[in-house]
Amino acid sequence: MILSIESSCDDSSLAITDIATGKLLFHRKISQEKEHAAYGGVVPELASRLHAVALPVLLESAKEYLPGLKAVAVTNRPGLGVTLLEGIAMAKTVAQLQHIPIIAVHHLKAHIYSLFIEKEVVMPLLVLLISGGHTQIIRVSSHEKMEVLATSIDDSVGESYDKCAKMMGLGYPGGPIIEKLAREGDEERFDLPVPLRNSPQLAFSLSGLKNAVRLLIEECRDSEGNLSHRDMCDIAAGFQKSVKLHLIQKSKKIFDKEKIADFAIVGGASANLYIRSAYEQLCKKYRKRMHVAPLEFCADNAAMVGRYAQEAYRKGEFADPLTIDIEPTKKLSANMEL
Ligand code: KG4
Ligand code: ZN
Repeated sequence: MILSIESSCDDSSLAITDIATGKLLFHRKISQEKEHAAYGGVVPELASRLHAVALPVLLESAKEYLPGLKAVAVTNRPGLGVTLLEGIAMAKTVAQLQHIPIIAVHHLKAHIYSLFIEKEVVMPLLVLLISGGHTQIIRVSSHEKMEVLATSIDDSVGESYDKCAKMMGLGYPGGPIIEKLAREGDEERFDLPVPLRNSPQLAFSLSGLKNAVRLLIEECRDSEGNLSHRDMCDIAAGFQKSVKLHLIQKSKKIFDKEKIADFAIVGGASANLYIRSAYEQLCKKYRKRMHVAPLEFCADNAAMVGRYAQEAYRKGEFADPLTIDIEPTKKLSANMEL
C-alpha cells in the first residue's frame, strides 16, 4: 500500500492506495475553505498552520494501514511553499520510521491522474487543466511525457471565479458560488468581452475580463453601494459565458491540429457543469471521447496523488527521503514539459 499526502494549497488530504489493484482503501480530506472565506482567498501562513493541525488528525485515522506501507507519496510542486512543506515533513517522518521510499508528486500530474482513480489509464490524451493556480492544455503522451500546448498569461480560471465572487462580496471559493448564481442569471444582458477573441495567440488570459466585471459591478451598484440579487446573477452569467467562449475558442485551435481521440478536463474548476457541457458539445463535433473525474476528485485530494504514485512505484520513481524538498514553481510556457 501507498500512503499519499496532499497539502499544496488549502486542502489537507491523505489516502491509502493498494499498489497491486489500484483500489482506494482510505481517503479523507479536511478543507480550510471556511477559514479562508473571510479573506476572499487563501492566506498562506494560516493555511500552513491549519495543515499542521489537520495532517496528524488524518494520519491518526489511517493508523491501521501504516504497518503495511511500501511507500509514501507527497505533492512537492507546484504549490504554496509553506503548505507543501507541511506534507513533506510528514512524508519524511513516516518514510524514515517505516524504512520505505518516498515518491515526489507533481501536482498537475496528480490532477491528470484523478481521471484514473480505480480505473485504467487512458493515454495519449489531451487535457484541459483548470484550477485555482493554472489554466493549461496539456498533451499527455505517456506517464513520462506531458507537454504544455497552451497556458495562461495571467489569472487562471479558478482564480478569476474567486476574484469575481470576492468583488461582489460573496466569499471563497468563488467557483461554485458564481456557477450557482449564473444558473439564475441572464447571460445575454451584459456584453462582457471575450478575451483574446481577435488574437491568433494560443494562450489564455482572464485579467481583462476581470477588470470589465469590476467596472460593471461599480456601474450596477445603487446609491448605497449595494448590488441587487438580479444584477449579481446576470453579472455571474455574463462572466461565465465569456470564460466559456474564451476556453472553447482557444481549445478549437488545438483540436484542429491534434488528432488524439481522447480529451479530458481536470482540476478544481472542472467541477463546473456549464463548462463541462460546452466541452461535451465540442467533443461531439470533433468526434473526441470526453473524460472527467468524479466531482469528489476534481478539487485537490490525496486519492489522485496516490493514483499517480501507484504508477510511479511500478517504475521505481523514488526521491531521496533525506533531501526531498519543495521545488521552486517554474513559470510554464507553451512547448514545455511538465
Ligand atoms: O484544483 P483546485 O482544488 O486547487 C488548485 O490546484 O488550485 O482548484 C480550486 C479552484 C478554486 O479557484 C475554485 O474556485 C475553483 O477551483 N472551482 C470552480 C468550481 N469549483 C471549484 N471554478 C468554477 N466552477 C466551479 N464549479
Ligand atoms: Zn489543484
